[in-house]
Amino acid sequence: RTVYLNGDWVDETEARVSIFDRGFLFADAIYEVTAVVGGKLVDYAGHAARLKRSLAALDIPMPVSEEALLTLHREIVARNALSDGGVYLQISRGAEDRDFLYSDALRPTFVMFTQARAVLDNPKWKTGIFVVTMPEGRWVNRQIKTVQLLYSSLAKMEAKRQGADDVLFTEDGVITEAGSSNAHIVTKDGTLVTRALSNALLHGITRASILDLARAAQIRVEERGFTVDEAKNAAEVFLTSASAFVMPVVAIDGQPVGNGKPGPLTARIRDLYIEDRL
Ligand code: PDD
Repeated sequence: RTVYLNGDWVDETEARVSIFDRGFLFADAIYEVTAVVGGKLVDYAGHAARLKRSLAALDIPMPVSEEALLTLHREIVARNALSDGGVYLQISRGAEDRDFLYSDALRPTFVMFTQARAVLDNPKWKTGIFVVTMPEGRWVNRQIKTVQLLYSSLAKMEAKRQGADDVLFTEDGVITEAGSSNAHIVTKDGTLVTRALSNALLHGITRASILDLARAAQIRVEERGFTVDEAKNAAEVFLTSASAFVMPVVAIDGQPVGNGKPGPLTARIRDLYIEDRL
């Protein structure tokens, strides 16, 4: 693959980042993942806007203009002839001798790469996925898309060991999110329930899009916390993210959700998203 590193296009084997990079030493970095389907970026405006918010929250300067950012996204897709997958980008505060306190003059480290993946043809979409619940152990400012992903990674590995596909994080009895996506339920009376936005969860771009589309389609939407029991007894449970779009959950902690098959409202919401955003 051709990757982007601080203004240069280089082969992935040539790209080098300093061991003193604060992304590496302090997880002092933010990231974005934008899906690509048929060579086109999906929901790009939302990802670009959240990137700006994450950088502002950490007081890291935007390394390129907004126009250049879009051009870079298009160019990396073209250079790698990417049809389906995603564009990953990471911006760290930069590299300097290790110190908790950083200097003002640091130049951010900006890398981008593509990953080819069947986004729409994911076979799991037809069967749904199994998840297990785990106590929330990530940091408290989850609305910032930082690379502080150690706990998420350990939790997803543990879920895999338990034979599940993903994890649902729980805090005070309420589900915050899945391992790398937002979690939603459909109640038996057909209401889509999703946790309201706060610092407890990442403000998913896919989440925002499906809520807009659901409301426009007269689907009842409630933004409030829901418990593990509510999720286990819901008609449907699904996850949303730029890498999975809309993914049905068919079992939680080994207990089937609904009839143990992907549900109709989940399918409808996925169709609405695909029709409108792709
Ligand atoms: N993850 N919650 C968390 C913790 C996430 O990491 C993500 C995205 C989401 C969904 O956000 P969006 O709809 O904007 O992708 C929610 C990306 C895909 C990743 O880490 O690969």
